[in-house]
Amino acid sequence: MSENVIFCFSGSGNCLDIARTIAAKLGDTDIVLMRREPTVTDASHARRVGFVFPCYAGGLPGHVEDYVKKIRVGDAYTFGVVSCAAYPGVGLRRIDRIHPLRYWTVISHQSACIWLMPHTTMLPPLKAEAAQRRAELLAEQAAQDILAGVETDCHPPENSFNKLETALWPTLCKKKAAALTVDYKCLSCGQCVRLCPQGNIRLVDKQPVFGKNCIGCLSCLQFCPRQAIHMGGPTQTRERWHNPNVEAADLMQKLIHID
Ligand SMILES: Cc1cc2nc3c(=O)[nH]c(=O)nc-3n(C[C@H](O)[C@H](O)[C@H](O)COP(=O)(O)O)c2cc1C
Repeated sequence: MSENVIFCFSGSGNCLDIARTIAAKLGDTDIVLMRREPTVTDASHARRVGFVFPCYAGGLPGHVEDYVKKIRVGDAYTFGVVSCAAYPGVGLRRIDRIHPLRYWTVISHQSACIWLMPHTTMLPPLKAEAAQRRAELLAEQAAQDILAGVETDCHPPENSFNKLETALWPTLCKKKAAALTVDYKCLSCGQCVRLCPQGNIRLVDKQPVFGKNCIGCLSCLQFCPRQAIHMGGPTQTRERWHNPNVEAADLMQKLIHID
């Protein structure tokens, strides 16, 4: 059993990259990828337990809150890291209510929500390489704080705008999911099927078919080797984004151990 456990959700790899950076500093860490079917839920043995996830529409991605409710945490030092393009939303606060967080921080990065805006949109405004360097430095800083047992002296933020956004997101997400299409460039490689954290894609007659459980993470679209997957007009031409240190195969794992 590992000394540290980090529960991570990541659509385009930023959060997995952050989790790996933190794990490399802590040593002896299991990174559990929170896919649809919970795998590891018992972290009661761990000395440190962390949660690393992106902000989606001001809140938490799809099933993350339900997953976190199933996790057993003992007497661990707990920490949370949210990655966002501009604002952290209320996700950390939601997790804090389930497992009170002793330390939390926010790391902004390129926007994965490319049906809404180009990936280069973020606060502070930065080009991709500079954003990546900044995220790595902030993740290393967070790891140092976690190793030193730093405690954040207030709860994570909460506000009415983000709460409203989060409440509206499931309806909008369904609408966006209905706009998923595949074009002639599809190679039928099946990567999207293996990548989808919801198990929501299957191949029918060698073509991806999307089910009704899409949570809008865009893993399928961002990592498609032929850029054959789209979610409405802007994604026909908009440049894709995924974290430069993360491959599709990394996100297919259930558990990554880092010594
Ligand atoms: C569906 C969706 C909704 C998003 N909503 C927000 C948001 O409300 N605020 C924000 O600052 N970033 C938002 N983002 C951007 C992501 O939080 C950000 O790009 C994050 O680094 C992605 O992490 P990942 O690569 O681990 O998935 C959103 C991204 C997606 C895909």
